Amino acid sequence: MSNYHIKAFEEYFQVYRKSVRNPEQFWEEIAEEHFVWRKKWSNVLSWDFKNPEVKWFEDAKLNITENCLDRHLSTKGDKTALLFEANDPNETAEHITYKQLHARVCKFANVLKEKGIEKGDRVCIYLPMIPELAISVLACARIGAIHSVIFAGFSATALSTRINDCDAKMIITSDGSYRGAKTIDLKGIVDEALNDTPGIESVLVAKRTHSKIIMKDGRDYWLQPLLDEANENCDAEIMDAEDPLFILYTSGSTGKPKGMVHTSAGYMVYTAYTFKNVFQYKENDVYWCTADIGWITGHSYIVYGPLANGATTVMFEGVPSYPDYGRFWNIVEKHKVTQFYTAPTAIRALAKQGAEFVDKYDLSSLKVLGTVGEPINEEAWHWYDENIGKKKSPIVDTWWQTETGGIMITPIPFSTPTKPTYATLPFIGIQPALMDENGKEINGNQVEGRLCIKFPWPSIARTIWGNHKRYKETYFSAYDNMYFTGDGALRDEVGYYRITGRVDDVIIVSGHNLGTAPIEDAINEHQAVSESAIVGFPHDVKGNALYGYVTLKDSGEGQNHDHLRKEINQLITDRIGPIAKLDKIQFTNGLPKTRSGKIMRRILRKIACNETDQLGDTSTLLNPEVVQEIIKNTL
Ligand code: WT7
Repeated sequence: MSNYHIKAFEEYFQVYRKSVRNPEQFWEEIAEEHFVWRKKWSNVLSWDFKNPEVKWFEDAKLNITENCLDRHLSTKGDKTALLFEANDPNETAEHITYKQLHARVCKFANVLKEKGIEKGDRVCIYLPMIPELAISVLACARIGAIHSVIFAGFSATALSTRINDCDAKMIITSDGSYRGAKTIDLKGIVDEALNDTPGIESVLVAKRTHSKIIMKDGRDYWLQPLLDEANENCDAEIMDAEDPLFILYTSGSTGKPKGMVHTSAGYMVYTAYTFKNVFQYKENDVYWCTADIGWITGHSYIVYGPLANGATTVMFEGVPSYPDYGRFWNIVEKHKVTQFYTAPTAIRALAKQGAEFVDKYDLSSLKVLGTVGEPINEEAWHWYDENIGKKKSPIVDTWWQTETGGIMITPIPFSTPTKPTYATLPFIGIQPALMDENGKEINGNQVEGRLCIKFPWPSIARTIWGNHKRYKETYFSAYDNMYFTGDGALRDEVGYYRITGRVDDVIIVSGHNLGTAPIEDAINEHQAVSESAIVGFPHDVKGNALYGYVTLKDSGEGQNHDHLRKEINQLITDRIGPIAKLDKIQFTNGLPKTRSGKIMRRILRKIACNETDQLGDTSTLLNPEVVQEIIKNTL
């Protein structure tokens, strides 16, 4: 039996037990047998959740790009590493082999050096989903520069805040980007952000849209001519296991974004190991994760995890609705995608479109389906299972966070029996705990509490850039000796976990704890409903009452709203109980969402509480017009 590749449910339990009985020995074996090191560690793990401090594979020396690229050259040099599918379906897909990717990364790395970037310097990357994005990430890693990718949908203000927070010396961007039928002036946004970023010395600009842009003399450089001149050999910088690999910003519940710091060795080991098992990747598979590399999902499961396994990983520039809502399925057919990993918000949007967009395409190549980012509601789960997986591809509902670096709770396909809306069991090495309000662990099954992790795993974020105090307060202060996730979860009768949502989304109505997710699930079961979000608002008798924002499917138009309200409340009564009934139901054309697709309940809560003057930080809001509409029609 190989601990690296789990193929059966009994095997999962065996390996899991090993991994928690003796974590050091377990991870040492994985690290030793499946990665290349310049020097081995002197100690596998030292940790202290009080301080807090975590170190894995101390004193080891490595470069993650040697694991993702160099080591595959002799065996898989001509295999496609990166498969680029452009926004425009008529543009020929680009197959970049391991050899080519290695050469392009080395050239890029030499350009970075030539522009004065050294080990430990921060480089911000603000690019669309084009090959240069993955290549620049790897080029930074090659020379030991710390990359900080900023999702190319963020505004100039959000961009400059992040650049300044990590004090980046360089930004890599493009002239523009394509998103469906739109062309976005990316360089214009960068120019605006750079009015306010004294630390930036140079800007590298990739050509994508050929838009007319302004190049500032002595600061801005076209990338291609520099690459043309660069040597295609670049020795990898030898990094310490605990040297920072990247910073990735994630929004907190309050204040400015948190720059989560991930380090080299542990991150590499854990993302590679999870990738192999959670997606059951096999040679010749074509794996596609639809996330943007601007998010942790893209870092871990488009770039590092797949490449460390010598996989073929698809990178898609466009959007699911362009040129029509069949695009995802068109790509699956075209490239014979075997593993498909996306977010519930995308699944719901596509489910809304009707079967003809799916049925046109041959999806028989698919073996494993994945979901991530928020709790998946029951309806969406079944639609995905029936229409995309044809009930033969297991769905891996993967729970994790920017902070965790890799997947934490998930089924292992073809091993763990799945259950709709359940992320099921902890991954190898992960020791979850449910905690009550008084800081005590809740044991046994059929219980609900706050989700914590008791023991370090290799890819836990080590700190918040420049603010270790905030790191301690946010993650290690709520419960003694535990990493606190900020999520609530329940454990069912067999020990399966279901993530119920952020604990700040729990609403107490008449003394009853109500999770928003199950109520939303109930509402979403209504055939006329597309999406919904529940928030609490003050009520004299109950303490809080529930306000529901509901979007209807196209066919919902012209329906009697009062009648719909009654039916929705009846569904809630049936599924949860009369206590969960909504006091107000407002039908809207959309819900406020972050650029990563999460519903911003915080904003809805303010609106429902009549505090529209305190909407707070809306820099991550994708659709401000929806907020205006909701305010205007408040009940
Ligand atoms: C939060 C982390 C991890 C990549 C994308 C999100 C929620 C994530 C699930 C899931 C229920 C989920 C949690 C978590 N979440 N995956 N499968 N089921 N909830 O990363 O932006 O750092 O967000 O997303 O609430 O804490 P992120």
